[in-house]
Amino acid sequence: MYFTDEFIEEVRSRNDILDVVGSYIPLKKKGNNYWGLCPFHNEKTPSFSVYPPKQMFHCFGCGEGGNVISFVMKYENVSFQEAVKILAERAGMEVKTAEDSPADKERRQRSDLLKQINSDAALFFMNNLSSPHGERGLSYFKDRGLTDETIRHFGLGFAGNNGREVVDYLRKKGYSDELIIASGMATNHEKYGMSSAFFGRVMFPIITPDKKVIGFGGRVLGTGEPKYLNTSETPIFDKRRNLYGYNFAKRSRKKYYILCEGYMDVISMHQAGFDSAIASLGTAFTEEQAAMIKRDRRDVYLAYDMDEAGEKAALKAVRMLTNVGITPKRISIKPCKDPDEFLNRNGAEEFEKRIEEAENGFLYIEDRVKERYNLSDPEEQYRCKREIVENLWMFGGDEVRMNSYAGSVVSRFGIPASEVSKLLEETRPPEYASKGTVPKTVYTPPKKPSGKKKENEWTPAESSLLTWMTDEPAIFRVVKKYLNADDFSPGSCREVAVKAYEMLEAGEFDIQKLLAGFEDEEVIKDATGILQNSAPDIDTPEKRMAMLKDLIIKVMERKCDLLMTADDPEKELKVFNCRLEIDRLKQEKLRITDEEE
Ligand code: UTP
Ligand code: MN
Repeated sequence: MYFTDEFIEEVRSRNDILDVVGSYIPLKKKGNNYWGLCPFHNEKTPSFSVYPPKQMFHCFGCGEGGNVISFVMKYENVSFQEAVKILAERAGMEVKTAEDSPADKERRQRSDLLKQINSDAALFFMNNLSSPHGERGLSYFKDRGLTDETIRHFGLGFAGNNGREVVDYLRKKGYSDELIIASGMATNHEKYGMSSAFFGRVMFPIITPDKKVIGFGGRVLGTGEPKYLNTSETPIFDKRRNLYGYNFAKRSRKKYYILCEGYMDVISMHQAGFDSAIASLGTAFTEEQAAMIKRDRRDVYLAYDMDEAGEKAALKAVRMLTNVGITPKRISIKPCKDPDEFLNRNGAEEFEKRIEEAENGFLYIEDRVKERYNLSDPEEQYRCKREIVENLWMFGGDEVRMNSYAGSVVSRFGIPASEVSKLLEETRPPEYASKGTVPKTVYTPPKKPSGKKKENEWTPAESSLLTWMTDEPAIFRVVKKYLNADDFSPGSCREVAVKAYEMLEAGEFDIQKLLAGFEDEEVIKDATGILQNSAPDIDTPEKRMAMLKDLIIKVMERKCDLLMTADDPEKELKVFNCRLEIDRLKQEKLRITDEEE
């Protein structure tokens, strides 16, 4: 799905931010802004504000901010494209995508058809379940404790013993045999002809976040092999890149995902109110799935089975997630086998307690390592230590995290810090040859977090000045005499300055266009923070000019400070010149010239 810039702009302009945000959370007018409780962090007094003239929102509590599209992205937890689509539909617009190549277009049309076939089949199986024909299936689900509502919510169904019915149904809908086979719904036997891929099974449709059915899992009633049959790999069904329950979980308000092993676990979890439960699709959890989850920026709890296979799968999942920068926590559901059984026996409240008691996934891995060795043997003891330390590389050479986990290795397993350092060097994987220099002494107490990273900081003066000059082009004409865009602090602030200067020079500043020019969500968030809601409100022209001068000087001083710490052989000279300019400006009287207006 690709949208043209014009389309995106139209979608934005047809969705007033006040209307849209107001439809999600209550807002109250105070001054020029509208205020409410921030949906992105917990708070009791409103610090979340919407400023209609700029069509922006900003939270003074957590720093979230952006325009109407970023708001929907964050609130609905969807991609940029999906947010544009939601807003287009909200404004009653026809969703137009940019012209694809003919081959792309054909592929897309075919995918749409394959999804349509899967949806139609899902409907067929659902209807089956509630017909006399599907009684066996329905009572199976009921026996497992599912309510009618849950069955409907997940679109569960039943495929009867007759392998021809669903084929006939799809043919009647007008699909060719070739398409029906390509959709994964049927196979063609030389001897028996077309027959359904599933029969005598209860059916679990697999649905994407944009609500398309792409495949199924089908479970035998009672015992039989295989217990679960899944749609084979098709152009629309990639097991590595989809998750069961993700269609609901992605929209959940919970701050975490609960990763389970089975379809039935996910369903029971949702029925019990844990609507952020997900599972991989009949295969082990994959790298691609880890990357998907990572984008949603949530914590992850593992609720895997308590048997040996579950333990093994959990170890792999922890590794996979840690690699992308999420350290999951592991929930114990002992003495039950899986979450489904746990919830049926003990209920949601008890599960909530297990979430609270969940243990750090990395330490869980380390404990399992220790169990595997006979520590009274010196050689085994050495190997055990080595493996425990080697696991620290799971953090991908992220020094800070490695350091704090190294600390916990020291205290938990009694491996002296000096040995941890040595073993870390010894086990350094080749891909981290240059990355993650191991600290000489591990287990330094964690430093106080300094908030934003050093290379992405800016001062209030920079923020005020940028806000002011983008509000009043006349101010910009004064500022640019003294400051270039790259005089602003590096990182988001300078990126904003560069774009703002370009646009102001061209005489067409538009804050929405500026935001649209950034791809990185973090920068957009920073940009809204920098170009805060309104410019200083000062009455007399003299005071305005004094204030402006003061701000410019402050930014120049900041530039000097940055120069001082820079790695530049000519920095002394540059700082000297900068100081000279500051002194000169101090003597000057600033004036707004109207000549260019
Ligand atoms: P389990 O056997 O733990 O499934 O397999 P479960 O969800 O607890 O099954 P119930 O409660 O007996 O119905 C976990 C997952 O592994 C996949 C399925 O995705 C299943 O949900 N699986 C299992 C298969 O794909 N094929 C199989 O034959 C078995
Ligand atoms: Mn089960």
